Amino acid sequence: MAKEVKFMCNPKSENRLVFNKEFTRQEPIPEDGIKRAMEIMETGRLHRYNTVRGEVAETSLLEKEFADYVGTAYCTGLSSCGSAIYVALKSVGVLPGDRILCNAFTLAPVPGAIMNTEAEPIFVEIDENYLTDLDDLEEKAEASGAKFFLLSHMRGHIVDMDRVTEICNRFGITMIEDCAHTMGAKWGDKFTGTFGEVGCFSTQTYKHINSGEGGLLVTNDDNVAAKVILYSGSYMLYEKHIAKPPLEVFEKYKQMIPNFSLRMSNLVAALIRSQLPELDKQCTRWNDRYKLIEKRLRGTPYIRLPERSVKEHFVGSSFQFTIKGAPVSKVKQFINTCSDRGIEIKWFGSMEPKGFTSRFESWEYFGKTNPLPKTAELLNFMCDFRVPLTFSLDDCKQITTIIQQVTEEVMP
Ligand SMILES: Cc1ncc(COP(=O)(O)O)c(C=O)c1O
Repeated sequence: MAKEVKFMCNPKSENRLVFNKEFTRQEPIPEDGIKRAMEIMETGRLHRYNTVRGEVAETSLLEKEFADYVGTAYCTGLSSCGSAIYVALKSVGVLPGDRILCNAFTLAPVPGAIMNTEAEPIFVEIDENYLTDLDDLEEKAEASGAKFFLLSHMRGHIVDMDRVTEICNRFGITMIEDCAHTMGAKWGDKFTGTFGEVGCFSTQTYKHINSGEGGLLVTNDDNVAAKVILYSGSYMLYEKHIAKPPLEVFEKYKQMIPNFSLRMSNLVAALIRSQLPELDKQCTRWNDRYKLIEKRLRGTPYIRLPERSVKEHFVGSSFQFTIKGAPVSKVKQFINTCSDRGIEIKWFGSMEPKGFTSRFESWEYFGKTNPLPKTAELLNFMCDFRVPLTFSLDDCKQITTIIQQVTEEVMP
């Protein structure tokens, strides 16, 4: 601590504190996941439908366990969350040319899924807490007549789901939730992903469960569930699923729904199954880190932290803040200086897509989309960094110290 104070007094010192852990380093897969993956590899039965008589595939077991975890009737494993969103949109009836409302602050696979359906996105503004602007949602729902809302709980920020549900009901809108960043998170006492018709989760490496790639789709609707399983690439083997609707529902669709071959493999399912029992504990560990960072950064000049509702039981696996009272040039300088000091901050202000980060203006494949002046301005000043569980609480302290030092150093 004394050391930190010394550096704070002398921010330009040659001995400036530099953080030297990787922001991309995840924890190892639990032992039993590795063991189970080895067992599956020894049998060679990696494909979810390659089961012997009476055997239930790893992927089917996972689907049942995840459905039970979030409290839905059905769950289907897919190759990614992006493919889950695409299949969800198709399964709730999106057709080419349909309009889909979607918050503009999200990641590229979300507009990618909309593009895949050949629908037209109507992007909705966000507010200073990085949440969908619900007044704008309401206005655009009315003006556009859109019948679908793809809500991306981007970076784990959960908007007032009571009001969202009311708006969707009032306008007859079907909601699909992108829960890539909210696995384990709730609004009130209800898991995200269970407010809309469909919830889509990611198990890609940087998410709350890591299987490299992977997606889980949940729903309570018999027709949607049957379509999802068929689209996912079940051939005529859907009977082998456990978390599935009655077989007669498949009869209605089995010759109408193409096989998109977006299945999950048993190997991926084994990795996920080993992490699911620990998910709540891991979420608490993320929140311990998040709260520490939040407490230490609160009140720092030029830094604004988002306000969060008491009903939002989020998972703080990443941290966002806004630079206030300084020009954009200073934001860039701040991010570059943080980078020199080992702190990897992502910036949504750049018009040029970089790494995983892109903003709505760069999704040019849609042609011209609706203007979003408020979101554009907010993204220019937003800073974003990962908080992997390989960071200790002390690491998190060090990160906040460096951020404060850099703020002092570069801000006007
Ligand atoms: C907000 C958001 N939605 C969806 C996805 C898609 O997830 P996946 O990589 O599993 O396709 C991502 C991926 O990072 C994401 O960040």
